[in-house]
Amino acid sequence: MIVLAVESSCDETSVALVKDGREVLSNVILSQIDIHEKFGGVVPEVASRYHVYQIAVVFEEAFKKANLKYEDVDLVAVTEGPGLIGSLLVGVTAAKCFSLVFDKPIIGLNHLAGHIYANALEDEMQFPLIALLVSGGNTELIYMKDHFYFQIIGETLDDAVGESYDKVARVVGMPYPGGPHVDKLAHLGKVTYKLPKPYVDGYNFSFSGLKSAVINLVNTENMKHNEIRKEDLCASFQDSVTEVLVNKTIKAALEYNVKQIIVAGGVSANKGLKERFNEENKGRFKISIPRILYCTDNAAMIGAAAYYYYQIKKEDRGLDFNASASLTLESIKKEG
Ligand code: KG4
Repeated sequence: MIVLAVESSCDETSVALVKDGREVLSNVILSQIDIHEKFGGVVPEVASRYHVYQIAVVFEEAFKKANLKYEDVDLVAVTEGPGLIGSLLVGVTAAKCFSLVFDKPIIGLNHLAGHIYANALEDEMQFPLIALLVSGGNTELIYMKDHFYFQIIGETLDDAVGESYDKVARVVGMPYPGGPHVDKLAHLGKVTYKLPKPYVDGYNFSFSGLKSAVINLVNTENMKHNEIRKEDLCASFQDSVTEVLVNKTIKAALEYNVKQIIVAGGVSANKGLKERFNEENKGRFKISIPRILYCTDNAAMIGAAAYYYYQIKKEDRGLDFNASASLTLESIKKEG
């Protein structure tokens, strides 16, 4: 089955052609990072305008790279949410046009499910599993007993982990998106600054206190005209974040007696997180983290998710469905 997948939920315009949920024939991603960098974050109106400029070119390039004809597509899949509404609308409209013109069934996919299913591009998913979803907008621990069965067992009570990485990057003078810069600096430094370990009840998370502690520390040191050791500060911040993420995920994996731990979303590209999982896991669970290309937003992950979704629910959403900025994972939970 050839899936044409479209992803435009934030600042990446991406179209992919994926065969049988596993084989990526093409995965074209046009990022707008350099456009938004000067604003220090994604400007929604600017993002949707660039999606409009870019989407047709990205479609064409995806078919060229895959060496396929438009008629070869069996299913059209598009991210319907969550994300920036204007950005989502561009992808949904383009996908609907394709579906209408070439008379192909179309389905809408949850962006967060896409991040989780990025792992299916690497290896078969083994159920039951625990997925740690860490991105710029989400931090969730999810129990999956089967394909498209999502039970959220923990989530952030305030900031998403990627968001706090971006804020910390900004206070140490790094550009947007800051996560990769903080990660790089952290590997050059030592854990010397005393920062709080952000533990809250159960499997929930909270990062705003840790983020504020970093900002206060930088302000205090600046007022005293003391030099900030950026590398050490990033190492200390990353140590606090990864300790909590890894400990809670492994605790959940033990309690739910799972076969696999999946790490998904932009922050899953973090090297410190990967290292900590390997250290703390001690070989107990199969740990799956996608390669960097599939960690951040891309359409191939939507193509993979669509394949498994369609095995369970053979539907054609037609032209009536719409983008939804605040779609939750539970809304696509498999019945029963
Ligand atoms: O999943 P994603 O591409 O977009 C959504 O939020 O949906 O995630 C982007 C987030 C940004 O906050 C970025 O700073 C963070 O992922 N990120 C990282 C790393 N690479 C990307 N955070 C920490 N370490 C990284 N290596």
